[in-house]
Amino acid sequence: MNRVGVLASGGGTNLQALIDAVATGHPAKLVVVASDKRDAGALERARAAGIPAIVVPKTKAQDREAYDRSLVDALRAYAIDWVCLAGFMRIVTPAFLGAFPNRVLNIHPALLPAFPGLHGQQQAHDYGVRVAGATVHFVDAGTDTGPIIAQGVVPALQDDTPDALAARILTMEHRLYPMALRWAVEGRLRVEGRQVHVDLRPGESTALFSPG
Ligand code: GRF
Repeated sequence: MNRVGVLASGGGTNLQALIDAVATGHPAKLVVVASDKRDAGALERARAAGIPAIVVPKTKAQDREAYDRSLVDALRAYAIDWVCLAGFMRIVTPAFLGAFPNRVLNIHPALLPAFPGLHGQQQAHDYGVRVAGATVHFVDAGTDTGPIIAQGVVPALQDDTPDALAARILTMEHRLYPMALRWAVEGRLRVEGRQVHVDLRPGESTALFSPG
């Protein structure tokens, strides 16, 4: 159960973190990277790593459900067990989630349930928080509302610009996502309602902390 498809719309640094982890023994097998954007940097990163990279653009005629069905059709060929959303800038509908029940993960650049939706880092900065971070969670039909697998905390410093805070959060994201995906592909996650039980090994934790 380690075949993973990654969906990304942007530059793909989280994808790169997964690629780098796999190159050094991570048990996931990244079998396809799909994007809604033809020019997504993530596609280049996939090709450079020898991973099939596909574009599934949304057509004008498609509503969100129809688009998600075409995405599912495109992914089926790769027989994936897990889906990682990594900067995929679309809300997935039940048409997508139904094809991969409890098998879709997302990374969000805030400590959920604070600051869901777009620009979590900017929201946190504007709010004046003292800690910020990232969350890996199962995807449900809401926006960043699914059961939480792991969170990573970073300080929000007084003199931070939004970009400085976002960069610190991103570094944490790159630690967090490979860790959570490992648990997924190793069958170490069990979901009961909102609670995600992780079969942790010595030294592992569902909460990471960065001093800065
Ligand atoms: C990350 O901040 C992620 O948390 C959010 O989108 C961004 C994607 O960045 N969902 P990248 O494309 O992985 O560099």
